[in-house]
Amino acid sequence: MIILSVESSCDETAVALVRDGREVLTDQVFSQADLHAVYGGVVPEIASRSHIEVIYQLADRALAVTGLSRADIDAVAVTYAPGLIGALLVGVNFAKSLAFGLGVPLIPVHHIRGHIAANYLAFPELEPPFLCLAISGGNTLIADVRDYTDIRVLGSTRDDAAGECFDKTARVLGLPYPGGKPLDDLSQSGDDTKYHMPLSHVEGNPLDMSFSGLKTAVINLVHGAEQRGEELDRASLAASFTKAVSDSLVPRTMEALRELGYDKLAVAGGVAANSRIRRDFTQAASKAGARLYIPPLKLCGDNAAMIGAQGYYEYMAGHTAGAELNAFATLEV
Ligand code: KG4
Repeated sequence: MIILSVESSCDETAVALVRDGREVLTDQVFSQADLHAVYGGVVPEIASRSHIEVIYQLADRALAVTGLSRADIDAVAVTYAPGLIGALLVGVNFAKSLAFGLGVPLIPVHHIRGHIAANYLAFPELEPPFLCLAISGGNTLIADVRDYTDIRVLGSTRDDAAGECFDKTARVLGLPYPGGKPLDDLSQSGDDTKYHMPLSHVEGNPLDMSFSGLKTAVINLVHGAEQRGEELDRASLAASFTKAVSDSLVPRTMEALRELGYDKLAVAGGVAANSRIRRDFTQAASKAGARLYIPPLKLCGDNAAMIGAQGYYEYMAGHTAGAELNAFATLEV
């Protein structure tokens, strides 16, 4: 079964062709990062307009590079939540029109389910059940993936997503948007013990997390140093900050893995590209005797192949939609 999949929830427009949920025939991704960099963050209206400009071209190119025709498309999958509402609506309306025009099923896909499914593309042997930490620009959660479409959230951030925290911290350090990768690079030469960072403690669910205090601590540290005219060791600040994020994510995830008794752990989302977080999970998983799955960098960030992968399993579970499909800025996984 060949699914044409569409992703437009934030600042990447993407169209992919995926066979049977596991084989990527093509994954066309257009990043709008340059358009938003000048503003230091995503401008929703600019994002929506840019999606409209490129989405048709990406779909045409996906067919051209694979040598497939519209008649080869068996279904259309699309991210319908969560994300920027205007941006999501571009993808949803494009997908609806295409599915209607071709007379094929329309499959709505939750963006975070898509991130989790990026692991199915990278690891053909991976099957549920497993635990997954999804860490992206807009979401941070620990999920029990009981089956392909039976996913239970065990813990999540109470405030900022981990990626948002990376981007804001990078901004105060004077790094370009999106700041996760430049901050990762900067931290390589830093000493992660040099700056003391607060570790969040959240009342109630021990698997819940919080990142806003960490973000505020970095902002205060940078502004305080500026006011006193002190030179900051930016590389060590980046390294200390990244260690604090990792120290929030890794122990909670490993605790959840222990509680469930699973031996398979997956990590997904843009922040899963972080070198320190990848290293810390590699060590923790090996100590726990668990098999670790983290997609290659290009499948960590937003893309449409992951939507096609999850779309296949949603279709198999009978989760299709009609012309009434709407987009949602927020939605439970
Ligand atoms: O998954 P993604 O592309 O978009 C959402 O679904 O939200 O994630 C984007 C986030 C951004 O916040 C970006 O700064 C962060 O992933 N990111 C990183 C790294 N590469 C991307 N954060 C930390 N280290 C990285 N190497």
